[in-house]
Formats: sequence, structure tokens, C-alpha cells
Amino acid sequence: MGVGILGTGHYAPDNIVTNKDLEKIVDTTDEWIKSRTGIEERRIAKDDEDSSDMAYKAALQALESANVSAEEIDLILVATVTPDTPFPSVACMIQDRLGADNAAALDVGAACAGFMYALITGQQYVETGSYEKVLIVGVDKLSKIIDWTDRNTCVLLGDGAGAAVLGQVSEGKGILSFELGAKGAGGQHLYQDEHDHLVMNGREVFKFAVRQMPESSIKVIEKAGLEKEDVDYLVPHQANIRIMDAARQRLGIEDDKMAKVIQKYGNNSSASVPIALSESVKQGKINDGDIVVLVGFGGGLTWGAVALKWGK
Ligand code: UT7
Repeated sequence: MGVGILGTGHYAPDNIVTNKDLEKIVDTTDEWIKSRTGIEERRIAKDDEDSSDMAYKAALQALESANVSAEEIDLILVATVTPDTPFPSVACMIQDRLGADNAAALDVGAACAGFMYALITGQQYVETGSYEKVLIVGVDKLSKIIDWTDRNTCVLLGDGAGAAVLGQVSEGKGILSFELGAKGAGGQHLYQDEHDHLVMNGREVFKFAVRQMPESSIKVIEKAGLEKEDVDYLVPHQANIRIMDAARQRLGIEDDKMAKVIQKYGNNSSASVPIALSESVKQGKINDGDIVVLVGFGGGLTWGAVALKWGK
């Protein structure tokens, strides 16, 4: 048997903040944001909507699409860097709300690579037979830690959640290979400061990302015994369209074979890859038997890539 994704879901707050809205609060332009990042708008949660609320909604959708009940879940892993509180974890909060009474629960912090880290952690439990069904959620309410006076960062980020249910799939399908990595020495390029604000050295992170995304993608393709040409669909972290396009071009993938939701959500950190994945599934862009590569990078610095053969 393989271990694969049985269902996906996502949620983003209703409140849309456009580039024009941001022109009113920092010295920026719609033109600059669009041309340098590809972002047109983002979703920002209300004060009373926290990470656990968004995670819960995405998780409900994933369970429904997987046709798995909350009681069947053995483990909940929530990738986040903006939990409601350090403890209890978001995973425990949604365990209660979902009624996942048989599940262990914990949060995983690897920033924008968090979903890949959580996915591969969950895979290990299913592969060893310890657990049958694992709920993976990526969620962040970055608006809580955005410095709304810093044009270098506030225009890039948004709130949201994405989820997936992991379980056994038929032989040859599911997760084929992965690569997870970290370089703590680069931590000073993207971090939360003493005022709890997100601080980023955009140029350094850009250089790292443009190198890492294609390199990790190629590694997982090779580890799976495949060629670049075998990849049917790429789901990259949605941080900057220029970074995403650079990775896509290195892999020789057509524009319509890459998940692209950055224009309407911006960078959702831990939620970025699962939102892009869930939207792509809903739009019918990923089909049974497709070779899909998920790849992300983020604060830490961390990175992660996963190659999978879609389907049950
Ligand atoms: O989840 C992972 C985290 N983040 C990322 O992946 C982000 C990676 N980095 C990037 O995406 C890009 O580096 C940015 C989008 C952050 C910046 O784009 P860039 O093309 O690298 O711009 P830059 O940093 O070289 O800045 C060019 C100019 C600067 O002005 P000067 O110094 O040349 O006068 C900036 O001050 O653009 C200025 N600038 C802005 N101008 C208008 C920076 N932010 C803005 C803004 N509006 N919002």
C-alpha cells in the first residue's frame, strides 16, 4: 500500500484587501505590487477570527472531501507560526471542535515549509501502521504579526488555511519521495522581532528561494525515479510569482500546469501550499494518476518538497 492524500479543503476570510487599499496606508502602488510579486489582493481575518477558526473550516472541508469522519482521525498535525496561543495548540483546539475524540494533536512550526513537514511527519505514522488516518492543516493569521507601516512586508502577506487527510492508497500511488531541510544560519533573514512583527530581508530570501525551489523539486523527482518531463503539476509556495515562474521554467513546466493563486491570496505562509493544492483539486486541474510536486521554503530557513502520484 501507499500513503496518499484522500481529500483536501481550504478556507480564506471574506474580507478582501486590495493593493489600492494598501496604497492608502503605506507608500506603495498597485503597479509595484503586481509587477514585483503578482499579488492583486489578499484576505485579512477579522479580530475575532483566529487561526483555529480558519483551521477548523478548512479541516471540515478536507474531511468531507475525503469521506472520513472526525472520529476516524488518529492524529492531527497543524503547521502554523501564528497559533491562537502557544498552548493549547491549534491542533488541540480543532480536535475538540471537530469531535476528533480518538486523535492525538500537535502543532508543527516550519513557517512556509510547514505543510510539507507536517505531511511527511504524518506519512511516517501511516507507513509504519501506527495510525490509519492523519489530518494535516496549514494555517496562518499573519495579519496578527504584520507591521502595517512596513511596505517591504505588509503588501505580501494574507490569512488563510488549507487541509488534507492522509491515509492508505493503492500501491504505486501517494507520496513517492520527499526532501526536507533547514539552514538555521539564515534565520536572521526572516523572523518575528521583539515587537512580535514579521521582519524580512526580501532580497536574501528571494535569492535563497530561487535556488531552493527548483533544486528541491529536481531532487524529489530524481528520488522518485522520474524525469522532469514526467511532472504533470507543480504546487509551489505562493510567495512571489517571479520565484514561482523561475522554478517552473527550470522544470520545463507549462504555465497552466502550475498552481497559481497568489494574485488573490498573497503569501499565506503555512497555508500557502495546501490552499493552492485544494483550489487546484477543486478546479479539476489535478487528475487521477498525475505526478504532482509540492514545494516550499520559508523562515528558519526551512524548505520541503514532496513528489506524489495523485489518486487513491
Ligand atoms: O514566504 C517566504 C517569504 N518571502 C518571500 O519569499 C519574499 C522574497 N522576496 C521577494 O519576493 C522580493 O524580494 C520582494 C517582493 C520582497 C521585493 O522585490 P524586489 O524586486 O526584490 O525589490 P527590492 O527589495 O530590490 O526593492 C526595490 C525597491 C526598493 O527601493 P530602492 O531601495 O531601490 O529605492 C524598495 O524600497 O522597491 C522598494 N519597495 C517598494 N516600493 C513600493 C519595497 N517594497 C515596496 C512597496 N512598494 N511595497
